[in-house]
Amino acid sequence: MWRVLVSDDMRLGEVRYPGVILDYRPGIGREELLEIIPAYDALITRSRTRVDAELLQRGKRLKVVGRGGVGVDNVDLEAASRLGILVVNVPEANTRSAAELAFGLLLAAARGIALSDRKLRQGEWDRKFLGLELKGKTLGIVGLGRIGSQVARFAKGFEMRVLAYDPYIPKARAESLGVELLENLEDLLRQSHFLTVHTPLTEETRGMIGRRELYLLPRGAVVVNAARGGIIDEKALLEVLEEGHLFAVGLDVFAEEPPPKDHPLIHHPRVVHTAHLGANTLEAQERVGEAILERVVRTLEGDLSYAL
Ligand code: NAD
Ligand code: MLT
Repeated sequence: MWRVLVSDDMRLGEVRYPGVILDYRPGIGREELLEIIPAYDALITRSRTRVDAELLQRGKRLKVVGRGGVGVDNVDLEAASRLGILVVNVPEANTRSAAELAFGLLLAAARGIALSDRKLRQGEWDRKFLGLELKGKTLGIVGLGRIGSQVARFAKGFEMRVLAYDPYIPKARAESLGVELLENLEDLLRQSHFLTVHTPLTEETRGMIGRRELYLLPRGAVVVNAARGGIIDEKALLEVLEEGHLFAVGLDVFAEEPPPKDHPLIHHPRVVHTAHLGANTLEAQERVGEAILERVVRTLEGDLSYAL
């Protein structure tokens, strides 16, 4: 029998596998997880569970870690590989939902949707706010992978000009989307009225958009991060927003999650935020849950085709 532990919220679907005992413990605390992990052959998580070297080492029977989603920045891949533990994910299952939320934040930031909602709840009927139209504006996308490409398609539908910076993709991919692929991040920033990041969080991308980069954007730009907290430096983002260089910001992710309750970006009137909800639709979670369980079971059975 394989014992599989699920440590985060997940819709696992109806399919069950003979020979697999599934323990669903969403929200399990760190201490308890460390205590019980030695009994499991596989662990399935989303972004909440920190799968670090300590946890992996404690998992004496652990053979597979399944990441229900795309980003594996919460998994110590180096430690997993050293310990012979395979890591699998389902990178394609939440693309559409993540792109829709990123675009939703972009629209909400441009039109002051959350700001007006908050004012109305406080009894204030304020019609002075003037938002920004998307048509004819330039959207800069950093990271033209699955989600970035889908955001580009949406932007085309809004008649925006779309630029991208992604040194790892062929020009033909950008061309097929009607996107101009630039070789230099600075060139993209100088032209982007709207900026959205869709890279993984890596040593290279952590802090890649800082104060200097934000000041390269035209005055009055809108900035969205629905990828990972830390790609855009939060301190710099707050400063540049307060100095009046940015129009508004949309955030789904934070460097620390959940963010501290007194986090100044959360309380800033020009920031609209969601609680890392990019993948949280019924549809995406059904796809993610079913696929990750299947991939973990197949990997336990010896199929290596999903291993990262
Ligand atoms: P992807 O791998 O398809 O695309 C990432 C792209 O970033 C790739 O094309 C890659 O070449 C590019 N890239 C990497 N390093 C770069 C750099 N230094 N500069 C510019 N481009 C760079 O991944 P995806 O499915 O599009 O997901 C992107 C990220 O979005 C994930 O890694 C994850 O962190 C995040 N995400 C967040 C949510 C959410 O709930 N908010 C949901 C899904 C994914
Ligand atoms: C992901 O990387 O897939 C996202 O963070 C979404 C999630 O884990 O829910």
